[in-house]
Amino acid sequence: MHALRGANLDLPRGRFTAIMGPSGSGKSTLMHCLAGLDQPSGGTVTVAGTDLGSLDDDALTIFRREHIGFVFQSFNLLPMLTAGENIVLPLELGGRRVDDAARERARMLADILGVAGRLGHRPAELSGGQQQRVAIARALITQPDLLFADEPTGSLDSTTSAEVLDHLRRSSRELGQAVVMVTHERDAAAYADYVVTMQDGRIV
Ligand SMILES: Nc1ncnc2c1ncn2[C@@H]1O[C@H](COP(=O)(O)OP(=O)(O)OP(=O)(O)O)[C@@H](O)[C@H]1O
Ligand SMILES: [Mg+2]
Repeated sequence: MHALRGANLDLPRGRFTAIMGPSGSGKSTLMHCLAGLDQPSGGTVTVAGTDLGSLDDDALTIFRREHIGFVFQSFNLLPMLTAGENIVLPLELGGRRVDDAARERARMLADILGVAGRLGHRPAELSGGQQQRVAIARALITQPDLLFADEPTGSLDSTTSAEVLDHLRRSSRELGQAVVMVTHERDAAAYADYVVTMQDGRIV
């Protein structure tokens, strides 16, 4: 099974790119390879001048922690931590002190994403859309150079969806991030600067 083949792509800083395509066309696999979560059996992934294939496991983990944010299709929040603890977790894992500025940034993200009132609750006590927004805040807390979001608006109503997309677009412009989003929704893709379409593992 070739989940990907002949997928060549540049993702410029400060730009918001949407990836569309039918189910099974390789969108999640592509994002996992680009983020260093999966290793392709052929080809290379270069992020900010670093070939991810040249890094060993530890170096790759550190590189990911410092440069890359990921919002998973299935959220992947830690069930035993509260929403607030989930959001600041990437900072703690990176050995950064969770100081007042970090807490303020977490509060600001929670505010923008509309989950400020739910920070003391565990994921099981949140709706799907709230979990998704906590996962987005967690990915944005470190201000990564590259942000991947796999269907970030899949569980959101249209108003919240518009707010999240607007924030992703502003985040790419204002922080110079490369933001990459998989979506099935044309309305969501319309927020992006570029739309890439995949079919059978290829970019068409
Ligand atoms: N670990 C795996 N082993 C073998 N095949 C896999 C594996 N993961 C995914 N695939 C296959 O690779 C192809 C691409 O899967 P992928 O998850 O990237 O699709 P997708 O475009 O994200 O689909 P969706 O829109 O449903 O999320 C599919 O045919 C899938 O069955
Ligand atoms: Mg997918």
